[in-house]
Amino acid sequence: MRKILKWIGIGLGVLVGLVVIFVGVMFTIGTSRLNKTYAVQPAAISIPEDAAALERGAYLYAASCAGCHGDDLAGTVIFDDPAIGYTPAGNLTSGKGGVGISYSDVDFVRAIRHGIAADGRPLMIMPSKGYWYFSDGDLGAIIAYLKSAPPVENELGVNAAKPMGKILIALGLFGDVLSAEVIDHQAPRPSAPARGVTTEYGEYLVNTGDCSTCHGPDLAGQQSPEPGSPFSSNLTPGGVLAIWTAEEFIETMRTGTTPYGRQLDPAFMPWKSIANMTDDDLTAMFMYLQSLPALETPSK
Ligand code: HEC
Ligand code: HEC
Repeated sequence: MRKILKWIGIGLGVLVGLVVIFVGVMFTIGTSRLNKTYAVQPAAISIPEDAAALERGAYLYAASCAGCHGDDLAGTVIFDDPAIGYTPAGNLTSGKGGVGISYSDVDFVRAIRHGIAADGRPLMIMPSKGYWYFSDGDLGAIIAYLKSAPPVENELGVNAAKPMGKILIALGLFGDVLSAEVIDHQAPRPSAPARGVTTEYGEYLVNTGDCSTCHGPDLAGQQSPEPGSPFSSNLTPGGVLAIWTAEEFIETMRTGTTPYGRQLDPAFMPWKSIANMTDDDLTAMFMYLQSLPALETPSK
C-alpha cells in the first residue's frame, strides 16, 4: 500500500513538473514572439494632398479603421483584462499621446501595410495582413487623411500582455494576432484592379477588408479566433449567401439584419464599419463572393 502511494506521489510530481515546463515553454515562446524586432524598410509611396485623395482617405478610414481607432482617430481600448493584458488601438492624430507627432510617412506605411510599429515590434490585432493588399494610391490616401486630421489629446499607453496573455498567444488561442508574422514582407506588390463594379475589384475589397481572418482562408466559414464569438458564416455559394441578392447583401451590411431576420452581433462581425461602403463597392464584394466555388461549411 505504502509503495503504491509512493509511486502515485512520484507520478503526480512528474506530471506537475511537466505541466510547469510546458507552461514555461509557452510563456517563453509568447514573450519572444511579442518582443521580436522586425527590420522591414518599406518602399516610400507618394502621399497626395489634393481634396479628392483626402476624401478617398476619409472613405477608406470609415470603412476600415474607425471601428477600432475611433471616428476622431484618437484611438480606443480594444482589450483590457487584468489577467490577460491591455491592448489599445492607438491615437493616430498629432495630438498628445498620438503617433502622428513622431511617425514619418514610411513609419505609417510600415505600420499599416506590414503590421510593424516604428520601433520594429509587431502590432497586435491590427489587421495588416488584409491592409497589405491596399494599392499605393489607396494607402497614400489613407495616410494623407490621417495626417490631415485635427490633433486630439488622448494618451492610451502601450500594448502590455500579461504572462497569461503571452501563454494564450503562444497556444494560438487568439489566432494570427500578429500580422507581421504571417505577411511575406519581401513579396512583390500584388496588382490593384481598377475601381468598378467588377469581380476583380470585389476580390480586392474582400482582401483589404480582411474577411478571411474570421471567415477562414477560403471564406468557407470557421470558428472565429476571438473568444466568445459565434461561428463566422460560410460566405461562398456553399453557404446561406447562395440565394441572396446583391440588394439583400447590401441591406444586411447596412442594418446588421440578415434576410431571415437574424441580427449579426457587431461585437464580432464588423458590419457597422462595412456599412460605410458605397452600394457599388458592396455589390462588387458580393459579386466576388458569388464567384467563389461552393465550398462546404467545415464542421465546428
Ligand atoms: C481590429 C482593430 C483595428 C483596426 C480595424 C485597425 N487597427 Fe490600427 N491598430 C490596432 C491596434 C490594437 C493597434 C496597436 C497594436 C499594438 O500596439 O501592438 C494598432 C496600431 C496602429 C498603428 C500604429 C500606431 C500605434 O498605435 O502604435 C497605426 C498607424 C494604425 N494602427 C493604423 C490603422 C489604420 C490606418 C487602419 C485602417 C486602414 C487601422 N489601423 C485599422 C487595431 C486596429
Ligand atoms: C472580426 C471577425 C469578422 C470579420 C473581420 C468579418 N466577419 Fe463577417 N461575420 C463574423 C461573424 C462572427 C459572423 C456571424 C455573426 C453572428 O452570427 O452574429 C459574421 C457574419 C457575416 C455575414 C452574415 C452571414 C449569415 O450567416 O447570415 C456576412 C454576409 C458577412 N459576415 C460578411 C463579411 C464580409 C464581406 C467581411 C469582410 C469585408 C466580413 N464579414 C468580415 C465575423 C467577421
